[in-house]
Amino acid sequence: MNHAVDYSAQARTNPVFLTAKTAICLMARAGLADADKIVRCLKLEDNQPLQSMKDSDTILGNAIVVEAKYRTMCRLIEDCGLRVCVDLPCGYTPKALHMTQKGLRFVGLDLPVVVQEVAPIIRSLAARHELINFFEVDATNYESLAAALKNFDEPLCISTEGMMMYLTEDEADAVVANVRNLLEVHGGCWITPDPEVKLQFILTFRSVFGENFLEKLETTGNAAMKQSNVANFSNSFIVDAADSFAAENLLAKHGLKAERINLAEHMPELSVYRQLTSKQILQFKEAMRRCHYWLITLDDARKPQALKKQTPFEMSCTVENGILRMTLRGRVDSLSAPKILTAWEAEKVSNVIDGVEIDCAELEFISSAGVRVLSYMNEDCKRGVKFFNAKPSLSQINCL
Ligand SMILES: C[S@@+](CC[C@H](N)C(=O)[O-])C[C@H]1O[C@@H](n2cnc3c(N)ncnc32)[C@H](O)[C@@H]1O
Repeated sequence: MNHAVDYSAQARTNPVFLTAKTAICLMARAGLADADKIVRCLKLEDNQPLQSMKDSDTILGNAIVVEAKYRTMCRLIEDCGLRVCVDLPCGYTPKALHMTQKGLRFVGLDLPVVVQEVAPIIRSLAARHELINFFEVDATNYESLAAALKNFDEPLCISTEGMMMYLTEDEADAVVANVRNLLEVHGGCWITPDPEVKLQFILTFRSVFGENFLEKLETTGNAAMKQSNVANFSNSFIVDAADSFAAENLLAKHGLKAERINLAEHMPELSVYRQLTSKQILQFKEAMRRCHYWLITLDDARKPQALKKQTPFEMSCTVENGILRMTLRGRVDSLSAPKILTAWEAEKVSNVIDGVEIDCAELEFISSAGVRVLSYMNEDCKRGVKFFNAKPSLSQINCL
C-alpha cells in the first residue's frame, strides 16, 4: 500500500510547524528586511498567523523575544568558529542567507512540510545557494538526521531554536540522545536558547510592559498552544522554577555538559528597539542579564549507552466485515504518521469502516504526531480504535 502523502496530511499530523510561520511574521514585524521578503514569498503579508495574539503589545513582546533569539544565535554561531551551521529546526528564518553571506555552510533540517516550502524560497533569495542544503527530518528519528549529515565531514555547530518546548518527555530525551550521537560522530557543539525560554519570555514582558505583563504572556501561551496542538510546554529540557536541575541532569544522562552564555553580554542591537522607548530598552537590556543560552558539548567523563538500531517503519492494512486491521512496525513519528493518516482516509473512501484493530507487537516508538493521527482515527469511526500487544513503554496509545 503506497498512497502519496499530501501537504494537508503532513500539516494535520504535526501542526506545530505553524509556529514557525508565526516566528517569521514576528521577525518581519521586528524590522528584519530578509524576514519581510520571506513573508512575502510565503504570501503571509496579511499576518494571518499573528491574529490569535489579540493586542499590539502582545505582538511587540513576542517580536522582541524572537528577534533577540535570532540575532544572538546568529552571533553565537559565527563566534563559535565552526564552519557548518546545522539548524535543527530551520523553520522559515533567514538564517541561511545570513550564514552564507558570512561564508559558512548552512544545513537546514525540519519536518518535510516545512522543508518542502522553505527550501525553494531560500534558494530563490540566496546569493550563495551552493553553500545551502535542506533535508527533511524528524529530530527524534536518528536515522533521518544521520542520513542528512552523512556527507559533512567537518565539526558541526548544531543550533536549536524554538523546538524543544513542543516535545514530550520521551521526544526531548530522544532528541538529546540523537544530538549526543551526532556530536560523537562529527564533533562540534550544540547551541540553544530553549532551556531558559520561559525565563526569557517572563523577563522580556515584565521589563517592557511592567505591571500588566502577565495577561499578555498568557495570551502568548494560549496562542502557541492552540497553534501547535501541544498541551503544555514542559519537559526536562525546559528549565522550570520547580526543578532547575532537570535539564542539566538530562544532558548528563546522555554524556553532555552545558556552559551558560549570558544573553545580555552577547545580544546585538535589535531593529525592534525603534518601536520601544529608551526607558523600555534600558530595562529590557538589564533584564536580559538574568537569562542564558546554552553551549552544549560532549562530556568526555561520561559515556552513555549506544543508541539502539531503529527498525524501519512499515504498515499493512486489510478490511473485513467493516473492521480495518492494521499492523504497525518500527517508529511512528512525524515522518511516518502522515502515511497512516493518508492510508486511513483512502481506506475510508473505498470501504465502510466501523472499527479499527491495530497490532502493535512490533511498534517500537510513537511520537505525539503518531498519537494525534491515531486519535483522529479513533474519533472518526463508530467503534473506535483498539490496540493489541502494545509494549508498556507505549502507554500514550492505551490512553486514547
Ligand atoms: C517555533 S518554530 C522554530 C523554527 C525556527 N528555528 C525559528 O526560530 O523560527 C518550531 C519548529 O520546530 C519544528 N519541529 C517541531 N517538531 C519537530 C521535530 N520532531 N523534528 C523536526 N522539527 C520539528 C517545526 O516544524 C517548526 O519549524
